[in-house]
Amino acid sequence: MPTFYLTTPIYYVNARPHLGHAYTTIAADAMVRYRRLAGDDVRFLTGTDEHGDNIARAATAAGVSPQAYADEISATFREMWKSLGISNDDFIRTTEARHKKIVREVLQKLWDAGEIYLGTYGGHYCFGCERFYTEKEIVDGKCPDHQRPLEWIEEQNYFFKMSKYQDWLIGYIKDRPDLIQPGRYRNEILGFLRDPLQDLSISRPRTRLEWGIPLPFDDKYVTYVWFDALINYVSALGDLDSERTRRYWPHVRHMIGKDIVKPHAIYWPCMLKAAGLDVFRELRVTGYWTIEGQKMSKSLGNVVEPPAYTSKYGNDAFRYFLLREMVFGLDADFSDAAFRTRFNADLANDLGNLVSRVTTLIVNLAGGKVPAPDAVARPDDVSGLKAASERAAAETDRAMADFAFHRALAAIWEFIGAVNRYVDTTQPWALAKQPERRAELDTVLYALGESLRVLGVLLVPFVPEAATRIREGLGQPGAPRLSEVVWGRLAPGTPVAKIAGLFPRIEEKKEGPAASATTAPEPSHVSIADFRKVDLRVAEVIAAEPVPKSKKLLKLTVSLGAEQRTIVAGIAEHYAPADLVGKKVVVVANLEPAKLMGVESKGMLLAGSAGPVLGVLSPDRELPPGAKVS
Ligand code: MSP
Repeated sequence: MPTFYLTTPIYYVNARPHLGHAYTTIAADAMVRYRRLAGDDVRFLTGTDEHGDNIARAATAAGVSPQAYADEISATFREMWKSLGISNDDFIRTTEARHKKIVREVLQKLWDAGEIYLGTYGGHYCFGCERFYTEKEIVDGKCPDHQRPLEWIEEQNYFFKMSKYQDWLIGYIKDRPDLIQPGRYRNEILGFLRDPLQDLSISRPRTRLEWGIPLPFDDKYVTYVWFDALINYVSALGDLDSERTRRYWPHVRHMIGKDIVKPHAIYWPCMLKAAGLDVFRELRVTGYWTIEGQKMSKSLGNVVEPPAYTSKYGNDAFRYFLLREMVFGLDADFSDAAFRTRFNADLANDLGNLVSRVTTLIVNLAGGKVPAPDAVARPDDVSGLKAASERAAAETDRAMADFAFHRALAAIWEFIGAVNRYVDTTQPWALAKQPERRAELDTVLYALGESLRVLGVLLVPFVPEAATRIREGLGQPGAPRLSEVVWGRLAPGTPVAKIAGLFPRIEEKKEGPAASATTAPEPSHVSIADFRKVDLRVAEVIAAEPVPKSKKLLKLTVSLGAEQRTIVAGIAEHYAPADLVGKKVVVVANLEPAKLMGVESKGMLLAGSAGPVLGVLSPDRELPPGAKVS
């Protein structure tokens, strides 16, 4: 039996769980559910990262002790995963005794082996990231992540001799093309390793930071947060020589976001090597979600928390959207409109309707029992469905080996499409009116029931609640198994119940912001002739820069094909200039020129906004600059 041990990052307890945390956890959950379905010996770990400056500061700001603060937010994560139906086998907290014990053990081992020494370190430190930045990484004297000035700190600290592992690490990664995936992150790390690797400062003086695990060989220091955090993956299994550690550790795989590749791909393998532990089997890196085109951030007020969707549309719908929409490893955009479109098209129409149609047909036309197929009636179209189900299962398997959730779902939905078309072409309700075609009807209904049974298994990792309802409606008890995805396993005579309302369609909003028209005065109508006076054009942004002394304005140079001009737009709080260059936008080309903060603007950029969120309009197909918009 293959063994599969998968971990998520352990999340910091200084923010509530949001879409980004949920995505990584859900994707990992879908993966382990698939491996369990395949019969593997699976272990799935998540948890919270609770030490360090940031958490200590957040606790002080909240007026509570760091432990009380960590307890509260950690519980929020644990409850969130429970309510989302995450099937983790364990939940580790870095403040737990079982974790601290292993961290101290690893530190002692490295100290005894001469892998750690006391040295002096001076460097540019970012309190947000809790790490020092090298000269090369600093952008305009600031932390590239937090855009805040870095502080120069000099102190005595303990160092892990990471530099000595540089050549070994390069070789290790080069020998294993699949160790870090997708490949672009592997290349990034190999690129980084072209420069000399520094030793890693692994302690913080307690005079500066109390909230951490004291070093076993010098309690005037606590352990640097990354050194502490990474060890969670192994500490959660128990003692280093425990049966469970021996069983799972050699099979460990980490799923992480692209923000934390460096500690995982560089510090961690070196730490493991020095401690005499196996290096992870693979590092799977996910992209980042933006919200309506913008970075998700507290200051923009656009942080999406899962209950905003799960409470209305269910866990499955949220899960499905995230897994289907993001090409694993690349960035993706979350928007309410995209969520609704996918929900209605894929879940309400394709899947929900199919399940309701098929179960209703079997209940109404076959007395609620799966009829026996007839060996000779309609052999061709039945074998077509069989082949479609086999294609879906095979492609799902290939896709899941690549962590390509979107591809697995596309393959399953191909099959759903084939079954829907089969209902349309065979028209069982018409067959039922012709008693002499009973054998054909039975064969068709059997094929439909069998298709649903297969879906009730294949869908388990992605929409587990719907999959359970399908299997229950089709009288399939017991734990589902991939090995049951073999056409023809559905026993004639199996009772079938109607399954309705799996994914009720989302009707277009009648209330909410869009309805403000009912309370706000109706805008007076504009004649089409008047509207045509507005010359709307597609334009390409050639250059963008802030307007000096203005918080809101950006000066854009746009191309309208034949000409270039300057347009000033009030979007500086929503877009970084670099994000706009190369973007196609829509502008009012014949607006009277106006001077804004001393810069002449010839035209206006169109953007939509709702509350704090603002989005620039962009054509959704390739259109040349200058193209008319009407
Ligand atoms: N505590 C560290 C990880 C230690 S692992 C030994 C940490 N925590 S975190 O709370 O900041 O979580 C970061 C992770 O959350 C990312 O790696 C990613 O998995 C997920 N995401 C956070 N924001 C995200 C998006 N906007 N989009 C996708 N995932 C994101 O870093």
